[in-house]
Amino acid sequence: MTDPSFQPSFQPSFQPSKAQQDLQAAARDLAERAIRPNAAEVDRTESYPWDNVAALRDGGFMGMTIPTAYGGRGLGFLDASLVVEEMAKVCGVTGRIAVEANMGGVSAIMRYGSEAQKKLAADLVLGEGDKPAICITEPDAGSAASEMTTRADKRGDHYILNGSKHWITGGGVSKLHIIFARVFDEAGADQGIGGFLAVRGHTEGLRIGAREPTMGLRGIPETEVFFDDMMVPASHVLTPPGGFKKGFGELMAAYNSQRVGAGTVALGLAQGAYDHALSWVQEREQFGRPIAEFQGLQWMLADMSIGLDASRLMLHRAAASADPFPDARLAAQAKIFAAETSIKVANDALQMFGARGYSRNRPLERICRDVRMFTIGGGTAQILRTVVASRILERKLPQGRDGYAEKQGKPVDSARPTAAARAAE
Ligand code: FAD
Ligand code: COA
Repeated sequence: MTDPSFQPSFQPSFQPSKAQQDLQAAARDLAERAIRPNAAEVDRTESYPWDNVAALRDGGFMGMTIPTAYGGRGLGFLDASLVVEEMAKVCGVTGRIAVEANMGGVSAIMRYGSEAQKKLAADLVLGEGDKPAICITEPDAGSAASEMTTRADKRGDHYILNGSKHWITGGGVSKLHIIFARVFDEAGADQGIGGFLAVRGHTEGLRIGAREPTMGLRGIPETEVFFDDMMVPASHVLTPPGGFKKGFGELMAAYNSQRVGAGTVALGLAQGAYDHALSWVQEREQFGRPIAEFQGLQWMLADMSIGLDASRLMLHRAAASADPFPDARLAAQAKIFAAETSIKVANDALQMFGARGYSRNRPLERICRDVRMFTIGGGTAQILRTVVASRILERKLPQGRDGYAEKQGKPVDSARPTAAARAAE
């Protein structure tokens, strides 16, 4: 049976422009010169690589998707992906910084924000090398993100935020925070979900909590973030055109760019692992000949290369589908494929090194730890499959019991209060 919903409007061009080739070459040069040499140290010390941030900023790679009117380079998501892959090839943490400084939150502000909000974001990202933090996930609302209970109460010309988030990338290093919260009007009625901008060091009531000790990508903190009667002026509310009622979906549409970025970091890391392995199998000899001459490894190499190539094509197509944001299905399937492929490729690359791959003196074990995150963060591989399936079947697939019951015309599970009711408690 054919899939009626799948008619990608974007037909990939296989010829990068001269400008894209130059951009990629400049990114590769910077990555080799300034980023690769300290990647192991960043992992070992678990410290945020401010030197890398300065190098990215000086190279014009922070905020490159910001329109020229606000001082950026006005580049697209495909351009940004080329840069992200080069950074991630040598350092996953730096790849992620490049994503968050160009995609996700930055792109949401540049699309939906007021003039003042765009200027604020441009000043922080371009001027200070800030990588904004996106605050969506809560302890009780992970995959079920729309069930968040962080609340924003309207009081005159400002909002009061209360609640908490966790696993926030860049907590304690990022200045600009884009916070998803459930909005209540002055009468206490649920309005939907909106985005709220806060600046660490300026916005009172924004509190950074404990840092998670993570498996990989250790140079970037993942922390709790708390909002204690945090006052946000109405001028700092990021409201997409559909208002709060449509706010969640429209903010998530912007988030599709972040999913392409995350998949691209996975791709870059895996490409880096593959490159190491390719050199090694031609150099290392056993049984009197290079191990690349054994068919067992040749077929592994072929599968690794096929996976990388397919990941890149899917990611580039998703990036280039942006109108103004990448298509939800193309972004989801590209991220799933790239994330799962990266785990396999990194693992196979380590295998090709034998015992040496298991040593912390080589980058393979770090890459294996780093890639493990991408089937989880930014929407799990399971949730993203639901996004893909809903597009295949051309209908909503509510995962909550009430949503499903409502769709079926059955009584809802009245024992389970809605997220709005829980936020109101
Ligand atoms: P859960 O939702 O509890 O899921 C647990 C398991 O159940 C998963 O395997 C999941 O796939 C599965 N599952 C849940 N529901 C379904 C379903 N309906 N169908 C099938 N399977 C299901 N969040 C932010 O807001 N900002 C950040 O900057 C950020 N950075 C992160 C960085 C890292 C390194 C990591 C690991 C996470 C980050 N997150 C961030 C959080 C991330 O988005 C969540 O971890 C993710 O959405 C999953 O939520 P959860 O961890 O609560 O898992
Ligand atoms: N792109 C465009 N629109 C999206 C979207 C996306 N990626 N995800 C959701 N939407 C829209 C839906 O189309 C829907 O719009 P509609 O009301 O006009 O029909 C609206 O948002 C609500 O989506 P729905 O699927 O009904 O939400 P849900 O309550 O069932 O929740 C999600 C499902 C969206 C929360 C879940 O699929 C998800 O993405 N979870 C992962 C969260 C995540 O990635 N966190 C990362 C934090 S860094």
